[in-house]
Amino acid sequence: MPEIIVLPNPGAVARAAAERIVTLADEATAARRRFSMALAGGGTPEATYSLLASDEFAARVDWPRVHVFWGDERCVPPDDPESNFRMADAALLSQVPIPVGNVHRMRGELEPQAAAADYAGELCAFFATPWPRFDLVLLGMGDDGHTASLFPGSAALRETGQPVVSVTAHYQDRPACRVTLTPRAINEAHEVLFLVTGVAKAETLRAVLEGPKGPYPAQQIHPTSGQLTWLVDAAAASQLARTPR
Ligand code: 6PG
Repeated sequence: MPEIIVLPNPGAVARAAAERIVTLADEATAARRRFSMALAGGGTPEATYSLLASDEFAARVDWPRVHVFWGDERCVPPDDPESNFRMADAALLSQVPIPVGNVHRMRGELEPQAAAADYAGELCAFFATPWPRFDLVLLGMGDDGHTASLFPGSAALRETGQPVVSVTAHYQDRPACRVTLTPRAINEAHEVLFLVTGVAKAETLRAVLEGPKGPYPAQQIHPTSGQLTWLVDAAAASQLARTPR
């Protein structure tokens, strides 16, 4: 059963997310001697990454045992302002003692299909299975209900044979060419954590959580045997009818 937690504001969402990540890292390193986390792009998770890098949180994570991946990337070089890697690197990875070899970025500078194949190889090498089983997948949601780079109507939503694919999608003024995990690769995770803030997403969040199943890619995210948690702020939750606030 998905857990939906409504918090007063974006800062509280970032703090709750950072606390959840610290707890999951502890549990995973105790159980499996490593913690594998797929990061989200876009703007919403940046505050969480900065908090994790802060004095208050950074010392609570065993960074040499943390392996960082991405749920999706824009097909741009890693130093491009639109790069999801660049955002996470600036806010978190360059601030904490994570070994360079533990940062498994999607190579957005490659040709999209080559980047997808490259990343499928990276995942297979790390997990030693065709399908990754992340300890945690962090996701955001667009106001069109997309998540990672899984957009409404995209063929990627029906992809069941590949953990990573390349897609082309137009969303706001962001790069159209992208590489993304597929729904099945996300749904294999031990835990999936959505971070959603802002009134602009309220109508879509209501439709995704309380509306009929189907049109929104975020509705395809339901871990096979893992936990699904939504951390949302009051503004994004403002149209929820049934969900506790
Ligand atoms: C990306 C993201 C994407 C993002 C949503 C929400 O590469 O853009 O992975 O899925 O999570 O677009 O973006 P915001 O957090 O900026 O609203």
